[in-house]
Amino acid sequence: MAKRMTARGFLERKERGEKIAMLTAYDYPTARLVDAAGVDGVLIGDSLGNVVQGRTTTLPVSLEEMTYHTSMVSRAVEKALVVADMPFLTYQVSAEEALRNAGRLMQEGGAQAIKLEGGVDIAPTVRRLVQIGIPVMGHIGLTPQSVHALGHRVQGRTAQAAARLMEDAFALEAAGAFGIVLELVPDEVATEISSRLHIPTIGIGSGAGCDGQVLVLHDMVGLDEGGVLKHTRRYAEVGQAIRGAAETYAQEVRAGTFPSAEHATSLGAAGAEVLAAMRQVEKRHAIQEGDDGTEINPYGGAR
Ligand code: KIV
Repeated sequence: MAKRMTARGFLERKERGEKIAMLTAYDYPTARLVDAAGVDGVLIGDSLGNVVQGRTTTLPVSLEEMTYHTSMVSRAVEKALVVADMPFLTYQVSAEEALRNAGRLMQEGGAQAIKLEGGVDIAPTVRRLVQIGIPVMGHIGLTPQSVHALGHRVQGRTAQAAARLMEDAFALEAAGAFGIVLELVPDEVATEISSRLHIPTIGIGSGAGCDGQVLVLHDMVGLDEGGVLKHTRRYAEVGQAIRGAAETYAQEVRAGTFPSAEHATSLGAAGAEVLAAMRQVEKRHAIQEGDDGTEINPYGGAR
């Protein structure tokens, strides 16, 4: 079996100049598939709020839900690094809460690392987590937990905003993060940050200059109903395949062409004896005619 990926392995990839491929997964079957496909990291993103729970933001996703999904994924994954997102308000209030909650994602969920959003402001918490042995991945640029403040826009377009991102990236690296997700950052800004850091950057909508890439599985395999996002490439149309299969199934059930003989089990030679025994039971349960003409079930009320 291939060696298990670790947070240190991500750093080694950067040292060797080898790109890192990550995908999200939220349950056992899809996690098994992406792990078998050989991705380096599986992220249980709080994007599950959008793509699994049908919510409009990630804000309502709870620690219990993240722990539940992380446990399914970590049971499935054998080779990739399992990274779990810390949901909104599980790490911002205090470093103590962050430690306890990250601990739950690892102890109960089986995560090998956690990811949290923020830069300079969250760096002291990152340091505390790293000090007690929790590998931390940062996330800057578009941070979906701040959607009401930032909107769904590319971040770091101005000199000031890009300089701030650089500060954030340096702060996370200094705090001990083993990698940083750069979400929706202009190509040049992401390339500059990536070239200055010793830890890998994992881009989403931030161009090819990042040290690795991450995509939301449901977007890249067409499991969502919406159009293709600018930063995503559709590698499969699984949604269309599922819909088509369900339509054909429903038509066949209605037409009586499913199930056919090969999907059923026949009694064969024992058939006559078995049916005779069943008919004996039917006789004992026979519906009697009541005086008023209503049918009486001997075991129940009038039918
Ligand atoms: O929640 C998520 O899936 C993420 C990725 C978009 C990086 O944070």
